[in-house]
Amino acid sequence: MRTADDFNRYYATPDPWGVSRATFRDRVLRRHVTRSIRNKSVLELGCGEGHLTQAIFHKARSVMAADISDVAIARAKSLDLRNARFETADLLDISFRGYDVIAAIECIYYLSHQEQGAFLEKVAREHSGKMLLLSGPIIDYQRYFSHRRLMLEFKAVGFTVVRFHNLSVYWHPLSVRIVANLLKLPLGYRLLDWLPERMIYQRLYALRAP
Ligand SMILES: C[S@@+](CC[C@H](N)C(=O)[O-])C[C@H]1O[C@@H](n2cnc3c(N)ncnc32)[C@H](O)[C@@H]1O
Repeated sequence: MRTADDFNRYYATPDPWGVSRATFRDRVLRRHVTRSIRNKSVLELGCGEGHLTQAIFHKARSVMAADISDVAIARAKSLDLRNARFETADLLDISFRGYDVIAAIECIYYLSHQEQGAFLEKVAREHSGKMLLLSGPIIDYQRYFSHRRLMLEFKAVGFTVVRFHNLSVYWHPLSVRIVANLLKLPLGYRLLDWLPERMIYQRLYALRAP
């Protein structure tokens, strides 16, 4: 696993992943996430500087948002969001009990494969019967996800896949870049779930814990 120091180094410059400019991702996430979190209590893991806490999870009744980087959490706190509390913590160390929904958007793939397994087991133990929203790049490397591996692991721990949606496509080759630009047209994002697997970069899973 990467450490707090590693992530603090990323956050030496604000918004290291450019998430505040990822308006397309926000629009697609909002479309698929809002119905699951409206008026619910949410635990947001790997919240970073609180971009999604503000842009997506403002529809939740309450948000407990955690990140391993205290630099990022200090910036998130300065947003002064009315429904959110922020805490510096390693997501594997905090209690998952008592929330309606757990959201782990683009953070779990920083864990080792073994830690990802421990994470799913912890969700199953402490968040039984409730919803987990999980997203990340679908790349078939050990550290990242592959759809096939995720499906096997969800099944092994007893999760039910309620639905999944594509969030973004690769930027290469040129043919996919053309598709990526078409998706940015009004309502173009509705085509995302119809695209072939090989074009997909990121995917969101809505899961029911066993
Ligand atoms: C790519 S950023 C995503 C931020 C935000 N979720 C988003 O999608 O805009 C990944 C975040 O996960 C956090 N993170 C990584 N490993 C973590 C861990 N073990 N515990 C808590 N946060 C972690 C990083 O500090 C970073 O803020």
